[in-house]
Amino acid sequence: QALKVELEKLKQTAPPGETEKATKNFEGFKDLFSRFLQEKGPSVEWDEIQPLPQDAVIPYKELQEHDTENIKALLDKLVVIKLNGGLGTSMGCKGPKSVIGVRSELTFLDLAVQQIEHLNKKYGSDVPLVLMNSFNTDEDTNKVLRKYDSCQVQISTFNQSKYPRINKDSLLPIAKSVSSDDLEAWYPPGHGDIYESFNNSGLLDAFIRQGKEFVFISNIDNLGATVDNKILNFLVNPPNGTGSEFVMEVTDKTRADVKGGTLIHYEDKLRLLEIAQVPKEHVDEFKSVSKFRVFNTNNIWIKLAAIKRNLDNKSLDMEVIVNNKTLDNGLNVIQLETAVGAAIKNFEAHGINVPRSRFLPVKKTSDLLLVMSNLYTMKAGSLKMNPHRQFKTTPLVKLGTHFDKVNIFLKRFGSIPNLIELDHLTVSGDVTFGKGVVLKGTVIIIANHGDRIDIPPGALLENKIVSGNLRI
Ligand code: UTP
Repeated sequence: QALKVELEKLKQTAPPGETEKATKNFEGFKDLFSRFLQEKGPSVEWDEIQPLPQDAVIPYKELQEHDTENIKALLDKLVVIKLNGGLGTSMGCKGPKSVIGVRSELTFLDLAVQQIEHLNKKYGSDVPLVLMNSFNTDEDTNKVLRKYDSCQVQISTFNQSKYPRINKDSLLPIAKSVSSDDLEAWYPPGHGDIYESFNNSGLLDAFIRQGKEFVFISNIDNLGATVDNKILNFLVNPPNGTGSEFVMEVTDKTRADVKGGTLIHYEDKLRLLEIAQVPKEHVDEFKSVSKFRVFNTNNIWIKLAAIKRNLDNKSLDMEVIVNNKTLDNGLNVIQLETAVGAAIKNFEAHGINVPRSRFLPVKKTSDLLLVMSNLYTMKAGSLKMNPHRQFKTTPLVKLGTHFDKVNIFLKRFGSIPNLIELDHLTVSGDVTFGKGVVLKGTVIIIANHGDRIDIPPGALLENKIVSGNLRI
């Protein structure tokens, strides 16, 4: 009740013209918050998890070739949405993550636009690109979008919701007014917010009216998330008995991905199981590569009419994720979020087990080093593993905290080293690389506190440990 009163007071502070938006935000928030209060224990009873049915996850290689004559007709049914609500804080940047340069001066956003532009040119299709922004990213993203005015892609944006952070002890909002510029008082409630926000923006109805039928949703920082005609064909022309309105692309887990959400069968439906939902005593089992073999790439394909149906029936039921945070002023707050893949249980759904190449996320500067290097080649905004690399896997790269921030990371390299024969790289401390360095096999470079190591231009380091003045 106290929360309701506080929210009502907050709503009154919305500037004229913003009232409708504020009301929608508060309605959505109240709904999420009451679901949080009603939750009475784990959302999954461990012993009730059923083995995945045989045909629940389809291997990508079993998908049928599409009819090449008809690709334009297939693509004309598609809308592409990139999740663009996140900031680049994990790589030390202030603005939207999507405007960080990732390859040949091109940003995540540039690559996404290039990919779609290429597709539309190649097939004469009209696939629109839509960005789901948050109040954190909208202004900066829209400034950048102007440069695509003359490109052959219809680009639209919509904003996700803006919910109030809640004091962990009092469970009351910390914001004093809607328009207060205290950004720490608000948050975008996770990518599960896409369903409501897409609908509220009017775009969902507009696309359905235009004859669009499917949406392909992916993280803007997943460079492997390109439009795939075979998956689209699976949705548009399902093989006998496999009709699906929701496809989650999953891929085989390696030891590096043990924390990723996995697909399970529960109450006779496919369900996304995230590590946060797993009881402590089962976490090791959850992480095991043998029991839960695949994880969610967050590349998701959904039938627009099925989204609409679920929204109209109010039947979308995504688990509430409680994200605990400590603000700069030391205040402990909670923010309630949802994940887009958690809605899978409300649709007729399949998983498709895709090649690893469709999951190429850039979360840290060590990922950036890989995608900037000659391990990949780039064509029309898409990265492909360089055919000259002998191993299918990418090298394991660990960079120390001196490399955390993108701008400093870039200054530490005269040019990005040749990594084509690299297996493992560990760099720690104050290290710089000259131009044209080649790294092969396992290379470990450790500059002790107070020391600095400059790898000279043109150096070849093969199976080498470099530490302080000691060179082995
Ligand atoms: P995350 O920050 O959630 O990345 O953003 P993650 O750590 O890989 O987590 P999961 O497993 O995918 O959830 C993933 C994508 O979702 C967007 C980000 O911009 C990024 O593209 N995102 C995240 C939103 O658009 N809105 C949000 O509220 C959160």
